Amino acid sequence: MNECELLQELSPIAEQLAARHAATCKPWYPHEYVPWGLGRDFDRETGWDPEELAIPPAVRSALFVNLLTEDNLPYYFRTIDRMFGNTGVWREWSHRWTAEEARHSIALRDFMTVTRTIDPWALEDGRMAQMSGGVVPEPTSAVDGFVYVALQELATRIAHRNTGTALRTCLGDHPVGKAGYELINRVAADENFHYLFYRDLTSAALAMAPSLVLPAIERQVREFEMPGTGIPDFKQHASMIASAGLYNMRQHHDQILEPVVLNWWKVASVEGLDAEAEQAREAVVRRIGRIRAAVHRSTDRLASAAPAAV
Ligand SMILES: [Fe+2]
Ligand SMILES: [Fe+2]
Repeated sequence: MNECELLQELSPIAEQLAARHAATCKPWYPHEYVPWGLGRDFDRETGWDPEELAIPPAVRSALFVNLLTEDNLPYYFRTIDRMFGNTGVWREWSHRWTAEEARHSIALRDFMTVTRTIDPWALEDGRMAQMSGGVVPEPTSAVDGFVYVALQELATRIAHRNTGTALRTCLGDHPVGKAGYELINRVAADENFHYLFYRDLTSAALAMAPSLVLPAIERQVREFEMPGTGIPDFKQHASMIASAGLYNMRQHHDQILEPVVLNWWKVASVEGLDAEAEQAREAVVRRIGRIRAAVHRSTDRLASAAPAAV
């Protein structure tokens, strides 16, 4: 089965998954999550005061990177539209997904501006730099795309949740901590629904065309990086985020590679593989084993490093 035939075969499954998504992912309203009463005008002369809220630099890095990633939506849409096609359920899904993702950047920006959690001038300069570059990962096929987005949506859910918790913890009873926690968790809940769509689509694809899908899983596990290329000083931010435990290799292994790739997709026991896919299976199982051994040696620097091609 080639990829075109697979997409055709997967259409009814995608329709079921899109219907499940519509029934379970309820609409919400960004303006209800923003504590507007805390807002006041900005003045270029006085600028932004980092001392106003006791937020550690790594948490600010996470807020900055998470929002700029949501801002880069037009280019993610372009990639998904190109990979999955612009007809039928694929169009319906990618458009609904786009509308939901746009809500994330609206809500997060309003919240961060009103509460002064990060420097709004640096944020706008970052957005201009990020979106002018418009760089996003470009999986080479639709199947690679399903796998990549499944891993990425889950990684984003985890990173958002950890950031929300860290914000609330560092701010104690401050209303910004409480509001930020609630908003960021609402965003994370959407990312979870997106993840479930792509996870289950990949499972169905794996059952229909294992020899096509297993090599894609191997490539995407090998090449996975958190989105954010193109954000100014991204490597530095990613490394701070990882060191602070907001998203690092240990979490990537424990919460994604093992539970999803090994336990949910069950790559070790997929049957009906051709020789190339069999090699890919061995390679991905070996790679995850290597990562597991490294991240569970608590002294290994990999455990607290940002997930990147390893
Ligand atoms: Fe999002
Ligand atoms: Fe998402």
